[in-house]
Amino acid sequence: FSKMFMLKYGIPTASYKTFNTESISSGIDYVSKHSLPVVLKADGLAAGKGVIIAETNEEAVSVLKEMISDKKFGESSAKVVVEQFLKGIEVSVFALCDGEGYLLLPEAKDYKRIGEKDTGLNTGGMGAVSPVPFADEVFMKKVKNNIIDPTIAGLKSEGIDYTGFVFFGLISVQGEPFVIEYNARMGDPETEAVVPRIKSDFVDIFIALGEKQLSKFKLEVDPRTATTVVLVSGGYPEEFEKDHVNNVYNIIA
Ligand code: GLY
Repeated sequence: FSKMFMLKYGIPTASYKTFNTESISSGIDYVSKHSLPVVLKADGLAAGKGVIIAETNEEAVSVLKEMISDKKFGESSAKVVVEQFLKGIEVSVFALCDGEGYLLLPEAKDYKRIGEKDTGLNTGGMGAVSPVPFADEVFMKKVKNNIIDPTIAGLKSEGIDYTGFVFFGLISVQGEPFVIEYNARMGDPETEAVVPRIKSDFVDIFIALGEKQLSKFKLEVDPRTATTVVLVSGGYPEEFEKDHVNNVYNIIA
C-alpha cells in the first residue's frame, strides 16, 4: 500500500516487487538475478524484525523461501516485498498531523543492528540520538518539499482524514532523502530521545491538534543532544531468555 501510494504521489523510494505463495517461483527467479545486496521485507507487521538484507543471490533465494514457504515471520511474511538496496544513512522524521496541517517534531536516528559497530541482525532499535548532525537545514528542506508535503497532500486527496503521528523512516543517499517506510506512530527507541527535547507543553500541542492549528504552533525545542541506550536479553533478536526487567536509560548529554 505504501509503495503504491509513494509511486502515485511521486515520493522518492526504492524500486520494488511483491511476491507471495502463488508467485514464489517468479520471486526466486527475480531475486536470483537481482543486484546486491537486496532487501527482503515481510509485508505484515513483524516488530521491526521482518527485514533481511541478503548479500548473495543464494541467500536471497533461501530467505524468500523461508519467509513465504516456511512462514519465518508467520502470516506477516506470507507476502514479501523485495526491494532495491539504498546505500546511505538513516534518519527518522516525525510529523504530528491534525487533518489539515502538521507540526514537525525533532528528528532522530536509531541504530537497528544488534552488534557493535552496526553489525548483525536488525532489531526494533538498539539506541537513538537526536538531533541528527547530517539532517541540516538543506536536507530537511528536501524532506519537507519532496516527502512530507506530498504525503500529507496525498492523504488528503485519498480522502484519508488522518489525525496523529506520521513517522517517516528515511535514508539519505548522497544527500537525497528516500522513504524506507511509514509508520502511524512515534518510533521506539527514537521517542525516548525526541520527547526530552520538546520544551513545549504536550497539552498545548494536543489542544492545537484538536483545533486544527498545528501548522501555526511554535514548537520550543531544547538544542542539546539526547540519546537512548537499550539493554536487551542475550540472544535478542532471535531466541532469548524472558522475564528480565526491561531497562531503557535516557541520558541528556
Ligand atoms: N525504531 C524504529 C521503529 O520504531 O520502527
